[in-house]
Amino acid sequence: MERIVKIFDTTLRDGEQSPGCSMNLKEKVQMAKQLENLKVDVIEAGFAAASEGDLKAIKEIAKSVKNSTVASLARAKKEDIDKAWEGVSEAAKPRIHTFIATSPIHMTYKLKMTEEEVLKQAVEMVAYAKSYCEDIEFSAEDATRSSADFLAKLFKNVIKAGATTINIPDTVGYTTPNEFYSFITEIKSKCPDLKNVDISVHCHDDLGLGVANSIAAIEAGATQIECTINGIGERAGNAALEEIVMALETRKDVYKTSTNIETTQLYRSSQLLTRITGVKVQPNKAIVGANAFAHESGIHQHGVLSNKETYEIMTPESIGLNKNKLVLGKHSGRHAFKDKLESMGYKLNSEEINSAFIRFKEIADKKKEVFDRDIDAIISRQSTGVEEKYKLIRFVINSGNSITSTAAVIMEKEGEKIEVVDTGDGPIDAAFNAIEKIAGTKLKLEDYSLSSVTEGKDALGDAVVKLRENGKIFVGRGLSTDVVESSVKAYINALNKMHSEENIKNLEVV
Ligand code: KIV
Ligand code: ZN
Repeated sequence: MERIVKIFDTTLRDGEQSPGCSMNLKEKVQMAKQLENLKVDVIEAGFAAASEGDLKAIKEIAKSVKNSTVASLARAKKEDIDKAWEGVSEAAKPRIHTFIATSPIHMTYKLKMTEEEVLKQAVEMVAYAKSYCEDIEFSAEDATRSSADFLAKLFKNVIKAGATTINIPDTVGYTTPNEFYSFITEIKSKCPDLKNVDISVHCHDDLGLGVANSIAAIEAGATQIECTINGIGERAGNAALEEIVMALETRKDVYKTSTNIETTQLYRSSQLLTRITGVKVQPNKAIVGANAFAHESGIHQHGVLSNKETYEIMTPESIGLNKNKLVLGKHSGRHAFKDKLESMGYKLNSEEINSAFIRFKEIADKKKEVFDRDIDAIISRQSTGVEEKYKLIRFVINSGNSITSTAAVIMEKEGEKIEVVDTGDGPIDAAFNAIEKIAGTKLKLEDYSLSSVTEGKDALGDAVVKLRENGKIFVGRGLSTDVVESSVKAYINALNKMHSEENIKNLEVV
């Protein structure tokens, strides 16, 4: 019989902490719903005490997710645990995840506490969290640089105080697979009570060993793995969820383990995260990279044509990559569109379906063939939850390789129609300069990228604009068959996000 390993996804907490990966409230909820479609066992929705924004997002996710457990992180402090409970209390399956550092270096220099003090605080805080919630996870931060004897004693006591999951994180990505296997085996033998709880691991990827260490932990008896979509996370990231899941799936013969993950949702989850954050995965990334299933060399192509298994150890279909079929055309009606969305696993309300249908019609008018990936792009562009202070009315560009590019942009700013003409180094620079003049602020363009959603000359152009203001990055996205239009839309989307955030801040001050 295969043993089931639980998947604890921390994309919205550890992942969101990484540079350039921040998401707004609507985006976090959108990602959480996709994680639920993916059937992750636990969604760590954030760190409630970190900010009011985190707390609000955790509350929203707790209300909208029904099947996965929803967790909030909390330091082993009463005020953090109170906030964590405030965040997850309305979840169908709430969890409080509390942690304290246990390595000599962290205890001496960060906490300035002795082993005895750490043990006392951990036990008291687990008991305090237990007064709120049945499901309590305890993490020993920097466990892999901690003493096995101390951890065994600590785990015995926090289990007695009510912890139901014990997490052994490799916080700094320092351990190696064999060493981690032995470490977990040693702790298990010194703390037999671990048999009665879930043993979790949380591996960072500083040495590129995050996935290998997680798998070694499973072999040593771990029953829960903490990981993120695309491997995003602090510094070099966390172990990548899709890699762990597909390794267990593809090598069931070796690991004799399985997960509850709906693997056909892996590709879509990866794409959604990329679209939300604007952080792309490298083409050669395992499982979800653009080249993961591409066979370039003649010898490989020949082999795959004769028998796929010559060079393919898993199918693209198993991660949901087969679905680039022609779906609908410009004559397709709302019913056909709605059926298509349902068959792709989208659960949208009628308002969301209506606005997606309008976008679909606009695109189908310009593009001969609309594919599943186009539909994914349309849906992921929806409901970013930003108030539209700025709206594009139209623009005209005059450009060429021997003239200065000029852009005339007409936009609505808080209901007022404004027209501005500006020049630039190319059509996009000219358009961005004009928009900036309308906005009346000089902004730092941190990053700009353009890619196509599908193949073909009429493919949708997917533009990402990152604007920096006061140390914060705002990611705007735009989609159109016209690359200048998608870039202009992306710039305006980033501006609107910046404005939305300013509104939220002002409300908080009031
Ligand atoms: O890396 C780490 O140790 C963490 C803990 C808070 C689980 O993220
Ligand atoms: Zn971490």
